[in-house]
Amino acid sequence: MSASPPRLRTAAVIPAAGKGVRLGPGAPKALRTLGGMPMLVHAVRAMAASRAVELVVVVAPPDGEAEVRRILDSHPLPEAAAAETDLLVVAGGNTRQESVRCGLRAVPEAIEAVLVHDAARPLVPVETVNAVVAAVRDGALAVVPALPLADTVKEVRPGAEDEPEPVVATPDRARLRAVQTPQGFDRATLVKAHRTVAVEGEGATDDAGMVERLGERVVVVRGHEEAFKVTRPLDLLLAEAVLARRRVTDGYV
Ligand code: CTP
Ligand code: MG
Repeated sequence: MSASPPRLRTAAVIPAAGKGVRLGPGAPKALRTLGGMPMLVHAVRAMAASRAVELVVVVAPPDGEAEVRRILDSHPLPEAAAAETDLLVVAGGNTRQESVRCGLRAVPEAIEAVLVHDAARPLVPVETVNAVVAAVRDGALAVVPALPLADTVKEVRPGAEDEPEPVVATPDRARLRAVQTPQGFDRATLVKAHRTVAVEGEGATDDAGMVERLGERVVVVRGHEEAFKVTRPLDLLLAEAVLARRRVTDGYV
């Protein structure tokens, strides 16, 4: 029998500093409620549910640090998770890339592996979190949960709004994956990526892509349908439906 690989000291960074423009007017997206609880709290609980995660760093909107602390204080982690998981809040930046960088700065040196998880993916199951952690523990420098696409994808030459756009190519769908979070990293590799890759325009929307730009190998593990990102109003309806079903079938609170 082979010995199991050593447990890696693991932290999760949760970028939650976005505005949620595509969701429409209202509070910043991560602070909006789902089943009566802010989306951000669901995301924190999803990370703390993994026994591997010893620290969760929440990246709050630049002017929302105090509010996020208050929200987290009023929704404490379930007792078992609270005993094993520390929680930190830091202020974020103008792009997701900057926000992740702010979160990384707060991760202590002793941490060996880092998960980066969108607050906007509140319903990721713990099995997916654990699958990502396991792949990092087994030696991958960067791990992305992802799913095959349902739709065929066309590459176009973007034109003026409401004008038909010419199709440039149709990539083979069997080779494409839609990526999710938490993405998992060897900490030093992720820190190097964030030091090396400059923020351009809206910045990188995907940390693994930054590691690819370092020339390092990135691997995909199977994601989960319920790890979808709440982006548009319809996604909120779907998230509420998933929560309602969990409450009936698993007693999820
Ligand atoms: N995010 C962040 N800091 C930013 C922008 C985004 O921490 N400056 C976070 C969001 O809070 C979210 C995650 O990155 O948890 C994924 O981003 P996205 O789904 O695009 O969220 P928003 O940027 O809030 O939404 P939108 O783009 O519609 O404004
Ligand atoms: Mg955004």
